[in-house]
Amino acid sequence: MSYAEVYRRSIDDPNGFWLEQSAAIDWEEAPTQALFKARAPIFEWFKDAQVNTCWNALDRHVAAGRGAQTAVIYDSPISGTRQDITYAEMLERVARLAGALQAKGVTKGDRVIIYMPMIPQALEAMLACARLGAVHSVVFGGFAARELATRIDDATPKAVIAASCGLEPGRVVEYKPLLDGAIEMAAHKPEFTVIYQRDQAVADLMQGRDHDWETFQSGATPAECVPVSGDHPAYILYTSGTTGNPKGVVRATGGHLVALAWSMKNLYGVDPGEVFWCASDVGWVVGHSYIVYGPLIHGATTVVFEGKPIGTPDAGTFWRVIEENKVVSFFTAPTAFRAIKREDPKGEFLKKYDTSSLRTLYLAGERADPDTILWAQEKLGVPVIDHWWQTETGWAICGNPQGLEKLPVKIGSPSVPMPGYDVQVLDEAGHQLPAGELGAIGIKLPLPPGTLPNLWNAEERFISSYLSAYPGYYETGDAGYIDEDGYVYIMARTDDVINVAGHRLSTGAMEEILAAHADVGECAVVGVADPLKGQLPLGFLCLNAGVTREPEAVIKECVALMRSKLGPVAAFKLAVVVERLPKTRSGKILRATMAKIADGEPFKAPATIEDMTVLDEIEIALQDIGFAKK
Ligand code: COA
Ligand code: AMP
Repeated sequence: MSYAEVYRRSIDDPNGFWLEQSAAIDWEEAPTQALFKARAPIFEWFKDAQVNTCWNALDRHVAAGRGAQTAVIYDSPISGTRQDITYAEMLERVARLAGALQAKGVTKGDRVIIYMPMIPQALEAMLACARLGAVHSVVFGGFAARELATRIDDATPKAVIAASCGLEPGRVVEYKPLLDGAIEMAAHKPEFTVIYQRDQAVADLMQGRDHDWETFQSGATPAECVPVSGDHPAYILYTSGTTGNPKGVVRATGGHLVALAWSMKNLYGVDPGEVFWCASDVGWVVGHSYIVYGPLIHGATTVVFEGKPIGTPDAGTFWRVIEENKVVSFFTAPTAFRAIKREDPKGEFLKKYDTSSLRTLYLAGERADPDTILWAQEKLGVPVIDHWWQTETGWAICGNPQGLEKLPVKIGSPSVPMPGYDVQVLDEAGHQLPAGELGAIGIKLPLPPGTLPNLWNAEERFISSYLSAYPGYYETGDAGYIDEDGYVYIMARTDDVINVAGHRLSTGAMEEILAAHADVGECAVVGVADPLKGQLPLGFLCLNAGVTREPEAVIKECVALMRSKLGPVAAFKLAVVVERLPKTRSGKILRATMAKIADGEPFKAPATIEDMTVLDEIEIALQDIGFAKK
């Protein structure tokens, strides 16, 4: 079938289409129906089925004779480690860890927070939870203790599984003090923790509460898979919203399995037994779907890469990993390629490696700029596929389905909607706009399987954040247009979310942190263009009356405050002190106008602006720190 036929079928008969795709999954009790509409606008998938994710990711492949195949390649240029783990070994390790967790009382529906770097134990912890029907919530290592505490309070986990440390170039990030701080700060106290001790920093353990990973599971009786219903939450993953409170995106088990299984062959063109590499982090949705679950559900081999595109040790690292592991399909963020291109524009490192196994490069996480795509296409000689998705959707909304039909690539577009996504561009009143016209991007409900059915314990917030602006649609928060051929173009966010090196961050959350500084009366954070990271946060600070300190001293403290409260991943290093912020007469801060001024772009101040002269003050202040160049 062609892409067009598959897509049409998925929209015309979602129930029939996805029920057919569900044949790729081993069910304990097979679904008789795919789509459940009774709670619309909340739609549920595979609710009447029973299934286990870990069974589908490990046990069934071992049972089918893949036990000796490598499931996970751990490649860590930072620690100088390489390890191949077979499906049989992975199953044995996961079942034992699950057994130990079960013996400590972790059962179906309990939440477990996982705070681990890019090591195989992170995957083992996730799969052990899945084996028991426990709901994991992985927290990215670059977040500070306060962010971890917020997630502990929202998910109320029975246990936390963590590593003693993560490794960043030139720096060991000790996780245990961050975890201790977070538990101290949180109102909810997990019953126990399991700590994987790494040689680079061995953590102190608190008697009674903290358990050493090795002793915890040695001698444990391996646990069997616990079947759960198709709508049971597989995991919660927190993502930035417009406020300081992150949103707990829920992923339901049945749809997650079916959608990821579909995508591995049809979108990524990968066959079982082949090597798929996604160079992201297990703390992000991309890592959940394509470092852990997608490749393993499909019986492929996944690469767990603990390193950076440059500096570990050089801009040839990616090519080495592709050569050594015969990677056929590679997925990363455009920022990683921009980093390599900046360091090695002529691709000299590439010449040292044989990357002929590679069939396709996939980019996502932020807008893929044409320069980067063209450079990657030319240097690697393979199709470069931009695809667009979000934490909420769990898999691509738009892409170019290489295993189904290789559609023409249009640079600047993540191509066409994937099955089940009825993508439309809407005007302010929610009417569909004609081809070529810019508007808010909505997806007509129901969303396909694998996407979020809800937010954790926050159904009202789910409805008000995503389903209320355009009744009958899911609001993506992205703006763009669709061309005459049905190709979608993503141009900007419609909210205060910014994208720094493929990481989604909330300017609202940053403003809450800056506002807490004793000398800051008012503030705003905007995203400014950055040639490497796409965007960087820039803070505008209005100091309280009577503050006589040097602005530089306050800025330095604000930068440190952001690092300690939100975490290093925010990359907050730029701020400027101004007298006033530009506002409308109703008091709305003109963040978009400030971002345009900073980027030296033409801008039109809204007619409702309170005082035009503030914009000149902002421009002068920005020029002083090297921005607002025309
Ligand atoms: N634990 C602790 N700290 C972390 C971390 C982690 N897991 N990940 C990042 N950080 C820290 C970094 O050490 C850095 O700290 P610094 O300010 O002390 O240097 C800061 O957070 C920002 O990190 P990062 O965004 O990685 O920037 P960088 O300057 O170190 O590297 C790139 C730049 C482009 C090489 C890097 O951003 C990159 O590899 N990006 C790929 C993005 C990606 O995979 N995104 C996932 C979505 S698909
Ligand atoms: P996250 O939830 O962290 O995956 O971030 C999702 C957001 O990143 C989207 O809503 C977009 O704003 C942006 N994004 C992701 N992929 C793309 C892409 N291919 N092109 C443009 N923007 C993207």
